[in-house]
Amino acid sequence: MKFLQLSVLPFLIVILSLNGATLAHPYGDFLHCLSLRISNSSTISKVIYTQNNPSYSSVLNASIHNARFSTPTSPKPYAIITPRKTSHVQSTIYCSKNHGFQLRIRSGGHDVEGVSYVSQVPFVILDLVNFREVKVDTENEVAWVQSGATTGELYYGIASKTQTLGFPAGICHTIGIGGHLSGGGFGILGRKYGLAVDHVIDAKLVDANGRVLRRKSMGEDLFWAIRGGGGNTFGVVLAWKVKLVPVPPVVTVFTVNKNLEQNATKIFHRWQYIAHKLPKDLFTTVWVMKVNSSQVGKKTVQAGFRGMFLGGVDELLPLIQHEFPELGLAKENCTQMSWVQSILYFGGLPIQTVDILLNRHALPVSSLKAKTDFVREPMSETGIEGFMNMFLEEEADFAITMIEAFGGRMDEIRENELPYPHRAGILFESSYFVQWTNEADAGLCINWIRRLYSYMASYASKSPREAYYNYKDLDLGTNNIIGYTSYEQASVWGLKYFKNNFKRLVQIKTKVDPMNFFRNEQSIPPL
Ligand code: FDA
Repeated sequence: MKFLQLSVLPFLIVILSLNGATLAHPYGDFLHCLSLRISNSSTISKVIYTQNNPSYSSVLNASIHNARFSTPTSPKPYAIITPRKTSHVQSTIYCSKNHGFQLRIRSGGHDVEGVSYVSQVPFVILDLVNFREVKVDTENEVAWVQSGATTGELYYGIASKTQTLGFPAGICHTIGIGGHLSGGGFGILGRKYGLAVDHVIDAKLVDANGRVLRRKSMGEDLFWAIRGGGGNTFGVVLAWKVKLVPVPPVVTVFTVNKNLEQNATKIFHRWQYIAHKLPKDLFTTVWVMKVNSSQVGKKTVQAGFRGMFLGGVDELLPLIQHEFPELGLAKENCTQMSWVQSILYFGGLPIQTVDILLNRHALPVSSLKAKTDFVREPMSETGIEGFMNMFLEEEADFAITMIEAFGGRMDEIRENELPYPHRAGILFESSYFVQWTNEADAGLCINWIRRLYSYMASYASKSPREAYYNYKDLDLGTNNIIGYTSYEQASVWGLKYFKNNFKRLVQIKTKVDPMNFFRNEQSIPPL
């Protein structure tokens, strides 16, 4: 039935109006091409979701993690393809290329600018939700993980086999491996082991010509580029082979909350001098947000000092008391648990139910805008005060800044080892988020985060002001949606994300995808 419906579509020409120009678009040809190549009608109905399909909206929305891009006016894909085999991925590339559709690749759908599921030009989504196998080999301390799996599914897969191995990736358990590893991946094991991509040892990629490549066949240049040089740029990464890392059976986590009335500014000021120099086994982070004050009806700003130590509380306490007595850490602030439970702790989830890591929809979805900074010099106390006070503004009701200490292993890896360049000398990375639930507040909230970012200009890294590609920020500049983007134009944002590695990424892109088939607003352009 489905096949019959699709087979009449070659005769359908969709007329699109874009920027005032009218284009004839062979939508039907695309679907015909894909259905012919997949051929089996029952498979087609499980793989191709056109806008007429009753499941289209639920498949589209299932992996949208920023409601800002799922409003009635958000552009929608002509079709969503959920491949079940590598050949389906190859066919989607072939048919999109031959029939003029832009391809947006989606793994976990956490792209903060929505570029994995929104485009201003006619597009289809290649959604890897069915590519989510996790195979853990504890004997060799490696795992093969498909891109559509979440970090939670990987963490769960490891923890269900061993308590003494882990993987250094992001805190949030619903982020997709495909996008996360395409841009870096920093989390609570980052000071000890570096980024997630520092532990990728092989990958399986489908390139713009539909070739299936592994590390050996793609060559070291392309293998270098896909480990942090951006998703939707070099091809579709189907799976990654990662090296696991040792973790102790017991780790200790802690939280100490201080608000403006409790010297939060001074303690944060001190933290900047200490956190990056602490032993690698200790990761600390500061979460800044507006909270209720102890005075009824008043608000204040809280700096939540949180940490994870790869060891027991009896070792942690004297260490903090010696290095950072100002924090006033006490035993009652600390909890011992397994490494995998510490992921839940940082995610604000109950630590008893590790199964929640398998739930891709465990976290609420709201509209948000994010920006990032890397800070190389400590901020002055007045600077911190001004920053904290901005959270008292009305637009910041649902804003948070997560400030993560660097140093440790991050200081030991050369800037050009992988595309991600923010390594030695970074004191901390700040990820600024603002969220809203009412569409009418969008403008004010986005304006607030832009003002916060302007305020931080004096304190952030300079020339370039570095930014983390995994939290894309289209305010930094974009490619042209259609046609050529010059190296100079793309450098405006490219140097911020990749510093001197940007040039090598452009050279590799020019070699492997000269026609720029894999593209988005901030993909690497060819020369
Ligand atoms: P999504 O599917 O949206 O893809 C992101 C980008 O990669 C898109 O450009 C997409 O086209 C491309 N892509 C996806 N799969 C691909 C594939 N298989 N092959 C090629 N290209 C592909 N980061 C971090 O380092 N540490 C953290 O703790 C967190 N925490 C966090 C929490 C929350 C709530 C959000 C929204 C984001 C984070 N991040 C993060 C940032 C996260 O690492 C980043 O958004 C990733 O790109 C998300 O990957 P997904 O696969 O989920 O996104």
